[in-house]
Amino acid sequence: MESFTYSYPVKVYFGEKAAEKNLPAELAKVGENVLLAYGGGSIKKNGVYDELVGILNAAGKKITEFTGIMSNPTYAKVQEGAKLARDNKIDFIIAVGGGSVIDCCKIVSAQAKMEKDLWDFEYAEHGTPTEFIPMGAVVTAFGTGAEMNNGAVITNEEKKSKSPLRGAFYDFAILDPVYTMTMPMKQVISGAFDSLSHSMETYMGSPRDVNLSDEINEATQRNIIRNIRMTLKNPEDIQARSELIWAAAMAENGILKIGKATDFQCHMLEHQLGAFTDCNHGQGLAVLHPVLYRHMLPEAVKQFARLAVEVWDIDPTGKSEEELADAFIDALAAFIKEIGLPTTFAEMNIPEDTNFKAIADTTILTGGCAKKFSREELLEVLLECR
Ligand code: NZQ
Ligand code: ZN
Repeated sequence: MESFTYSYPVKVYFGEKAAEKNLPAELAKVGENVLLAYGGGSIKKNGVYDELVGILNAAGKKITEFTGIMSNPTYAKVQEGAKLARDNKIDFIIAVGGGSVIDCCKIVSAQAKMEKDLWDFEYAEHGTPTEFIPMGAVVTAFGTGAEMNNGAVITNEEKKSKSPLRGAFYDFAILDPVYTMTMPMKQVISGAFDSLSHSMETYMGSPRDVNLSDEINEATQRNIIRNIRMTLKNPEDIQARSELIWAAAMAENGILKIGKATDFQCHMLEHQLGAFTDCNHGQGLAVLHPVLYRHMLPEAVKQFARLAVEVWDIDPTGKSEEELADAFIDALAAFIKEIGLPTTFAEMNIPEDTNFKAIADTTILTGGCAKKFSREELLEVLLECR
């Protein structure tokens, strides 16, 4: 175990009718002017919008709407939200949606309190924002676990970069499985795969010896795999859905990261792929993971071999560590196919002539990865994904 400090600021209200039961008390603690932030309008079709507006009205709040937050939120959208928050003297932000809305608002919350350009402040001056508009999250699409952390992934279109920014933690997160039942199945699966990816990328960080966090992580991965299968069998299975929602939060609430560094090289590569193609995050990961892991194999044999046995139920009898590690990647690739995720960029309609070199050249190289990737090898990975 490496040294660590653990405390967690996000209060989670999980379960059916969690908003009705808990939002009034939370709203009583905050000021009058509320920014209600959401995406392209799914919440208007499934009743979540009407329910939340009813609760906000009953609490006597003055609502300003911040709408149209897109998947892979842009820095320009952040600036729009920050201006709206300043102009309307917003006291509290309610972010309603998936990772995109939830991430966008983390940065709105910081930028609204700061004159300086937040991107420059964080990347050029290496500053960390300390003043925020307080916020609550209402999760309608699960997978990213974005509601549990203060990192946001924002696409800066001018800089052609999709990169992490530090923002605010949510004061609370409402996780009502019923709210997620209208998610398109494609999004359910790509979201759940994102959670599996977070668990794997955390697992692959150093130190390479298994600690308690890794053993909880193995259980999380098994749980995600089982519940993806159950959800595909019966999309109405609210218990399986509930497990996936909590597994997504578990993968990002810091517990699996205790006492170790994380890897996240696959994520950094996918984020830049997103900056250049605006692709779906979970789908991008699904294509990249097996290919990247084949490149990592020689350096990561021990961890992959353990995942084969502990997560993928591969019988170790008579197999070498190398054979087990190989079998893990095969099992992961077969699972991706089984659950209907893409296995090539072509299936994602990413054009052949995408500037893959520029993607590799601008990807953040992570410190905790089992293998130190060169940009040349990341480019090989990308080209093999076509
Ligand atoms: O915009 P609306 O109309 O709401 O539609 C959304 C959107 O089209 C729809 N949706 C959400 N809830 C729904 C629903 N449709 C029907 N019924 C519902 N209940 O789902 C679509 C996708 O939403 P989005 O928020 O974009 O997806 P996701 O949750 O996968 O978030 C992706 C973003 O999160 C970032 C990704 O990079 C990407 O930008 N990530 C954030 C992380 C973090 N902060 O910890 C970690 C991740 O690794 C990830 O990078
Ligand atoms: Zn992710």
